[in-house]
Amino acid sequence: MFALTNNLRTTLYCLLFCLPFVSARNVPGSHLQARDLTNSSKAGLGWANADTVDIRQYTSTGNVSWYYTWSAFPTKSDIEFVPMFWGNKSIDQFNSTMQQTLSNKAYNVTSLLGMNELRIWIIDHSANQLLTKKSLRRPELAGQSNITPEEGADMWKTYVQPFHDQGLRLGSPAPSSSPTGKTWLQGFLSACGDECTVDFIAMHWYGTNASQLISYLEDFNNTFQKPLWITEWACQNYANLTAQCSSSDVVEFMNATQSYMDNADFVERYAWFGAMENMQGINEDNALMDNNGKINSLGRQYIGGDHSDVSLTSAAVMTRCFLRFPIIIMTWFALPLSQILL
Ligand SMILES: *[C@@H]1O[C@H](CO)[C@@H](O)[C@H](O)[C@H]1NC(C)=O
Ligand SMILES: *[C@@H]1O[C@H](CO)[C@@H](O)[C@H](O)[C@H]1NC(C)=O
Ligand SMILES: *[C@@H]1O[C@H](CO)[C@@H](O)[C@H](O)[C@H]1NC(C)=O
Ligand SMILES: *[C@@H]1O[C@H](CO)[C@@H](O)[C@H](O)[C@H]1NC(C)=O
Ligand SMILES: *[C@@H]1O[C@H](CO)[C@@H](O)[C@H](O)[C@H]1NC(C)=O
Ligand SMILES: *[C@@H]1O[C@H](CO)[C@@H](O)[C@H](O)[C@H]1NC(C)=O
Ligand SMILES: *[C@@H]1O[C@H](CO)[C@@H](O)[C@H](O)[C@H]1NC(C)=O
Ligand SMILES: *[C@@H]1O[C@H](CO)[C@@H](O)[C@H](O)[C@H]1NC(C)=O
Ligand SMILES: *[C@@H]1O[C@H](CO)[C@@H](O)[C@H](O)[C@H]1NC(C)=O
Repeated sequence: MFALTNNLRTTLYCLLFCLPFVSARNVPGSHLQARDLTNSSKAGLGWANADTVDIRQYTSTGNVSWYYTWSAFPTKSDIEFVPMFWGNKSIDQFNSTMQQTLSNKAYNVTSLLGMNELRIWIIDHSANQLLTKKSLRRPELAGQSNITPEEGADMWKTYVQPFHDQGLRLGSPAPSSSPTGKTWLQGFLSACGDECTVDFIAMHWYGTNASQLISYLEDFNNTFQKPLWITEWACQNYANLTAQCSSSDVVEFMNATQSYMDNADFVERYAWFGAMENMQGINEDNALMDNNGKINSLGRQYIGGDHSDVSLTSAAVMTRCFLRFPIIIMTWFALPLSQILL
């Protein structure tokens, strides 16, 4: 009872004195409204959890329309599955898995993704398992090997292009956002000549600055003039590993970039990294679920829903409120109104 009264008083105090002066922008970490998901047909999931985690907690919202598993193995889900080309050692297995996956119309496969980060997974799939979590972000452990644009084009023509004849739309190999990524893709396309049907460009981007990602997307749009699929992206600092985005940086970065992608005609689909319990070395604040596999507030933000618990806890808001009060009063008298409100 005391706590309630106390909270009520504090809330009133805040409403009366603080909120009118402190815009959301001035309170790092407070996000007072959910992102509007303006084009729910674009959002997808990179899903490396097989069926150990409930995928329906995302898909039942109707705000996620597709998923991929970095392989040709689907998982149990009621949204469209997008297989990915992998494996040279186990190439026969890729082909037969594809045939099996395609024969089950319930997976609604319409598209096939090319190689991931210009490497080919050479993993022991003898147990038919999905990529292990560990192998996902640790190429050297997974035994991925870099391939040249010419090798990539040859493999594409042999193993990927035939699925065009089976009616699938084909995505390019997805380059990383390192400077060589774009030139690799240009080399790949020229080595392909007119023998590859690349219906859309798949790509990844890791960084911390939303406007740099937007410029990068626009550059890809202008260079390749094909629809884009961003199949991995996150707020991740590779230039300085000790300077990672805070969770509120991630919230803002996701909001800004996803809003842009929702509204950009040339972006067809995207999948945030990642919907996983263990982030494979990527800044954990980018996770769309907690360590128990339960969707978290960032996950809810991603699918366009409520993310009120991303906001500061009320106690933290109150503390900030009290701390800021003297500053607000001082600035109120010292500065013109316009400067306080901006
Ligand atoms: C496949 O498409 C049909 C018809 O649009 C739909 O009813 C079904 O739910 C879809 N299934 C999956 C797994 O996407
Ligand atoms: C892929 O496998 C084929 C057949 O085993 C082999 O001829 C080819 O050299 C391999 N390509 C690469 C890039 O490893
Ligand atoms: C893939 O499988 C199909 C159907 O079994 C077969 O016709 C085709 O030759 C195979 N392609 C490769 C590259 O092995
Ligand atoms: C983000 O990148 C843009 C364009 O390169 C730059 O102008 C801006 O200062 C950067 N923002 C931050 C916070 O570094
Ligand atoms: C994307 O590319 C198309 C040409 O393919 C162009 O018309 C359009 O303006 C580009 N969009 C942006 C935002 O650059
Ligand atoms: C990396 O980030 C840390 C923490 O922000 C900072 O102290 C350090 O100077 C940065 N290093 C470089 C090389 O920028
Ligand atoms: C999300 O981004 C959009 C577009 O940049 C912006 O208008 C909106 O204010 C942002 N929302 C939040 C809660 O930051
Ligand atoms: C949503 O995106 C898809 C794919 O880019 C596009 O075909 C569709 O027209 C978009 N819908 C809206 C309402 O923007
Ligand atoms: C789906 O997205 C819409 C539009 O942003 C949103 O209003 C709705 O709450 C979302 N649904 C869920 C279950 O998150």
